[in-house]
Amino acid sequence: MPEIEVKNEPCTDGVAIVIFGVTGDLSRRKLMPALYENAKFDRLPQPFYIIGFARRSWSHEKMRGVLREGVIEHGRTQPIEEEVLQRLLDNAYYLESTFQDPKGYVELEQAISDLGVKNTLFYLSTPPDQYSVIVENIGKSDLDSCPGGWRRIVVEKPFGRDLESAQTLDKELHAVFQEHQIYRMDHYLGKETVQNILAFRFGNGIFEPLWNRKYIDHIQITMAESEGVGTRAGYYDQAGVVRDVFQNHLLQLLTLTAMEAPAVFSAKAVRDEKVKVLNSINNISGETALQNTFRAQYVSGSIDEQRVPSYRDEQDVSPDSTTETYMAARLFVNNWRWAGVPFYLRSGKRLPRRVTDIAIQFTQIPLSLFGQRNLAGEAPNVLVIRIQPDEGITLFLGAKVPGGSMQVEPVEMKFNYVEAFGGSPPEAYERLLLDCLMGDATLFTRSDEVEEAWRLAQGIIEAWEEEDLENLPVYEAGTQGPRGADFFIQRENHRWRKI
Ligand code: BG6
Repeated sequence: MPEIEVKNEPCTDGVAIVIFGVTGDLSRRKLMPALYENAKFDRLPQPFYIIGFARRSWSHEKMRGVLREGVIEHGRTQPIEEEVLQRLLDNAYYLESTFQDPKGYVELEQAISDLGVKNTLFYLSTPPDQYSVIVENIGKSDLDSCPGGWRRIVVEKPFGRDLESAQTLDKELHAVFQEHQIYRMDHYLGKETVQNILAFRFGNGIFEPLWNRKYIDHIQITMAESEGVGTRAGYYDQAGVVRDVFQNHLLQLLTLTAMEAPAVFSAKAVRDEKVKVLNSINNISGETALQNTFRAQYVSGSIDEQRVPSYRDEQDVSPDSTTETYMAARLFVNNWRWAGVPFYLRSGKRLPRRVTDIAIQFTQIPLSLFGQRNLAGEAPNVLVIRIQPDEGITLFLGAKVPGGSMQVEPVEMKFNYVEAFGGSPPEAYERLLLDCLMGDATLFTRSDEVEEAWRLAQGIIEAWEEEDLENLPVYEAGTQGPRGADFFIQRENHRWRKI
């Protein structure tokens, strides 16, 4: 579908954000704190209204109370400024309705018209099985028309659970909205450090000549979490790591690392380049998928000296579940820049700590001059882009130890966000919400990107489903992951970086 470039469209007539499923956790933990931060720095268009739409029998006051608690508990810049918060909440209203009931949408239309705003941002913060009915009802009402203003819709992940369901959802969305009105949210793209991958690569001249198969041996992308599935097992047990984070966050990190420089920094140009990367990745399916992936599930262990249960003993997990909580994959981007360079991706729950990073391992030195005295090794240069926590970038080098002998040891050159910019970076949702309001879709996933990512995930999912696996490999919670994942990468004489 041809994309209409709509960028930085000013919001001169005020905006209403309609949050479907406002009673859920996302509004309290992420959306409202992000709106508060934007309000605090006067970034929101005025007037700005929040309309919560959900099934529970809440009053305006009840919703305001819950959202207030959310900001107090999760607000990034403390202490919370009461006046700013109160101003936001004064303009927040609750509308009780099921998502199926057309009357709810008539009331919503009336509420928006009473508020007198021309621009509306719909936010789907419900379980994904409600997306279709909400979109359909918006389409049946007059909510999708907006004389003199705009309508946009934000869709939270998961965007489908396979290629087919993603395509169906896309069709349903396109029946009511045009592509430029649809904002598919992958919150990783809103992280400052993820955006900085592009600034780092294309705002500096010295890395580009090295950023290719000639100088890079391999790349490791790690997204490790110490948390288990928590209260989300109902969803997670049906999804597994492959759907939960590989199809989206991990592949997004890969595309930003591997993409070519866009001709201009616009939503279309950036996303065109990202799609080209996904297009260039070998389709992995069947035996190839099994050879190039590894999966496992955690069993009980300890993290920070706390005993944690096995995945199968978590609340709402089936006792014989074969859902993977860890996966590793080896992918190749088959273009002139990257042919032959393995991209190793891994993610898991209940690993020793929460860390997401991208490690670019440069090739070996051509000749060993210092032999045994080179404690930095023959391939000392790794550039680690730390997405979270301790956001920053580290370059590992070998350096001479002061003294009489030519001893070389590993040292680090570091850039740290907090030190450089004096504060931790803003939350992803702050930026992403603002971008939807401004009409800038650069940091959102386009329809063809989602499909390409599902193509890759689907090959793996189907191969796993067909595999005659007697026992799913396991790893003890709090360890570096399954042993099998070590053998997986050692086959090519590589080693995972320590988590
Ligand atoms: C979500 C996944 O998209 O990302 C969760 O559904 C995961 O399972 C979360 O825990 C991680 O996000 P972050 O920002 O904490 O790295």
